Amino acid sequence: MPTLDWIGKKAVLNHHREVPYHLLKCDKALSVGDPGSGNLLVQGDNLLALKALLPYYAGKVKCIYIDPPYNTGNENWVYNDAVNSPEIRKWLGKVVGAEAEDLSRHDKWLCMMYPRLSILRQLLRPDGAIFVSIDDTEYHNLRMLMNEVFGPMNWVCTLIWKRRQTPDSRNLNGVSADHEYVLCYSRGDLIRFKGQSKDLTKYKNPDNDPLGPWMSDNLTGLANAQERPNLHYEIIDPVTRRHYPPHPSRGWIYGQERMNQLIADGKILWPKSATGRPRLKRFVTDMKSETTGLSTLLDAPANVAGTKELSSFLGTKVFAFPKPTGLVKLLIQQVTDENSLILDSFAGSGTTGHAVLAQNKADGGSRQFILVEMEEAICQAVTAQRLSRVIEGHDGMPALSGGFRYCRLGPTIFDEAGNVRAYVTFGELAAHVYLAETGEPLPKRNGGKSPLLGVHKGKAICLLFNGILGDRSAGGGNVLTSAVLKSLPAHDGPRVIFGEGCRLGAARLKRERIAFKQIPYGIKVS
Ligand SMILES: C[S@@+](CC[C@H](N)C(=O)[O-])C[C@H]1O[C@@H](n2cnc3c(N)ncnc32)[C@H](O)[C@@H]1O
Repeated sequence: MPTLDWIGKKAVLNHHREVPYHLLKCDKALSVGDPGSGNLLVQGDNLLALKALLPYYAGKVKCIYIDPPYNTGNENWVYNDAVNSPEIRKWLGKVVGAEAEDLSRHDKWLCMMYPRLSILRQLLRPDGAIFVSIDDTEYHNLRMLMNEVFGPMNWVCTLIWKRRQTPDSRNLNGVSADHEYVLCYSRGDLIRFKGQSKDLTKYKNPDNDPLGPWMSDNLTGLANAQERPNLHYEIIDPVTRRHYPPHPSRGWIYGQERMNQLIADGKILWPKSATGRPRLKRFVTDMKSETTGLSTLLDAPANVAGTKELSSFLGTKVFAFPKPTGLVKLLIQQVTDENSLILDSFAGSGTTGHAVLAQNKADGGSRQFILVEMEEAICQAVTAQRLSRVIEGHDGMPALSGGFRYCRLGPTIFDEAGNVRAYVTFGELAAHVYLAETGEPLPKRNGGKSPLLGVHKGKAICLLFNGILGDRSAGGGNVLTSAVLKSLPAHDGPRVIFGEGCRLGAARLKRERIAFKQIPYGIKVS
């Protein structure tokens, strides 16, 4: 497979594995509405935030939509990832500028995107899909990057979104770039879009036909008599007995048997005059489906609609180029069902959250969203504010209801020496241990009250930590002894037990089918 090379690539290929796990801390004062809605707004750099979400949401997200900086040279984005490489150190913290000032800005953009896409892939369900908005500045690089991270066979489509309604007169070369792209990849399973509704407005029922609305359609095709002799035959109006020979160069669209059935069913419109031609009475009820495949030319509102929409919630222009909700809603409709989880890790003004709430309102669904926005000022004054007004209703606009929890990145789970920090709770470590052992998030039913975290493929996963068994003395209930083993919930099968120490000998562990893993060294989550 052809691959793309860029400065700093080697340094970032495995960077997502080295990113430390942080805790997520919720701020009740900034949270809105129903805290049980399952929606999250996380303020922080998405590299750290996505990693922090991994123990809880790995393999759970059905749809990702992201709208990263396009790297046009006009936005002020900063490349700041803590990658330990000399060339990257040179760039850190500097604003990424226009081409002439910054010859490596495409390398920086690729270095920024690679680890984020790698973690996003881990968060997707096997039947999930990711959509990425992009314009011509990085489209070609992104396509190659996505091929590397998701696999070229998982490319689903490249959609075209018309962002401008009127041509751009500021262009230098006389070409107005009116569109941008939405690239779609799957995690691995075949993705089937729901498609778009067919235009049924042409179907009417002026003659009160008991078969319902219909439209008049052409009954001839393009095949001549040499090409399709079976489509060239005469038909007869059963009432007037008028004969209609085939058109010399255009046969009927159906063979004789099917045509006879349509005539018998009253589905042919016979002309009133002798010069007319018969037509097909095409009924809505005869359609195999009321939807058709989604056109790659998206039928969605332009950028101005996004700007108008945001100012209707926040009053003034507070954010440049928000996407219109209609665009993101259309994408969500294609690949989600009513209970899906949707993620946007470059949340900006919160369009994706708005689109999820609007789609739920439209079809009674209970989809959930996770949004990540790095800039605190944007996150609080724009993203959270817009969502709260969308949820609670604003200025005559109806409340879409729901809620979200506002979170920030907390401290790391492990210190520099790899030890679990003293403030880490049982539930927080449990999520990490379970992900490390199974690659999956902790089952919800655990609730942080039992040392048995869950049973995965017949193997029980247990954690002895923070005195879960009631003994909070140093080393007490966190060490696997005969007494502690007896007090663990019964399990008929192999067990993996994480603890601070083990006093059982190798032979006993083997007999009991226990693999003991010592905290913190046995917890390997990447
Ligand atoms: C193009 S805007 C997204 C606009 C959004 N789709 C909307 O409709 O409002 C990109 C957003 O990503 C945020 N961002 C950039 N880098 C980020 C990072 N590393 N982590 C989280 N957010 C980031 C920016 O602050 C900006 O708000």
